[in-house]
Amino acid sequence: RVPTVGIDIGGTKVMAGVVDADGQILERVRTETPDKSKSPKVVEDTIAELVLDLSDRHDVHAVGIGAAGWVDADRSRVLFAPHLAWRDEPLKDALTSRLAVPVMVDNDANTAAWGEWRFGAGRGEDHLVMITLGTGIGGAILEDGRVKRGKYGVAGEFGHMQVVPSGHRCPCGNRGCWEQYSSGNALVREARELAAAESPVAYGILDEVGGRVEEITGPLITDLARRGDAMCVELLQEIGHWLGIGIANLAAALDPSCFVIGGGVSAADDLLIGPARDAFRRHLTGRGYRPEARLVKAQLGPEAGMVGAADLARLVARRFRRAN
Ligand code: BGC
Ligand code: NA
Ligand code: ZN
Repeated sequence: RVPTVGIDIGGTKVMAGVVDADGQILERVRTETPDKSKSPKVVEDTIAELVLDLSDRHDVHAVGIGAAGWVDADRSRVLFAPHLAWRDEPLKDALTSRLAVPVMVDNDANTAAWGEWRFGAGRGEDHLVMITLGTGIGGAILEDGRVKRGKYGVAGEFGHMQVVPSGHRCPCGNRGCWEQYSSGNALVREARELAAAESPVAYGILDEVGGRVEEITGPLITDLARRGDAMCVELLQEIGHWLGIGIANLAAALDPSCFVIGGGVSAADDLLIGPARDAFRRHLTGRGYRPEARLVKAQLGPEAGMVGAADLARLVARRFRRAN
């Protein structure tokens, strides 16, 4: 029952934590994700540094990684990542040889779904869909206590379903992807656009950043929305609206009992989830004639991916011990 380390590598932040067998976080550290222009090795260096730092104070027996990318069916290589420099990156092997402990690699939304199912809002749900709103949109399908990965490992990439023909360009290479309309990046892009145009609706936020548009961030928008700033409230409503539409589509395809909404943007709570619930009900096919899935906020918040990764690492380490 020794603690393990979970690491969530997002497009913006890297979070690492020592997590015990009950999902309790004993210590957490975080840093910025190295710039996309840097080589994949720099991200590995960052991970290794965080683990070494935590190893100073904890006995680390296994490390679990939730990475913002497409992890192959063997949970070994990152095939592709729209927000990171990884292209067919042998992440598991590289880290295993550097860290000298068993390493588990999975997609960040998959580990978040696992974390919520084990310790959070998804406990007891046998048909759960996880949506994480961060730099992009992450997705995961968890049925009967198993993450569904598809044939090649990349099931659940909901963020790249097209919702607007010829819409905004997405770093995945396409246009009009869902995550261009409902994510932290979408929120910040819209706010900066209004601010750059010096729209009177943006005076509040421009004031906060002293006119420096590039200093507008997701957390700032959420904070201002909580304090009643009309533009920020409206932008979160829009993000929530798109979230609800996408979820209605997912309900048509997957019919889960529960959607868990996590990721950094979910900190906006009802400012986001309220509009999402409204749009979901309005767009759900067969509404009024079918059971409706619940939309709930992730209980572990933005830490779900980290906690889930640590717990999955525990399972992998146990299997490793049995086999050796
Ligand atoms: C990536 C996913 C990732 C998600 C959230 C998306 O752009 O394609 O693999 O889970 O962002 O980080
Ligand atoms: Na996924
Ligand atoms: Zn895309």
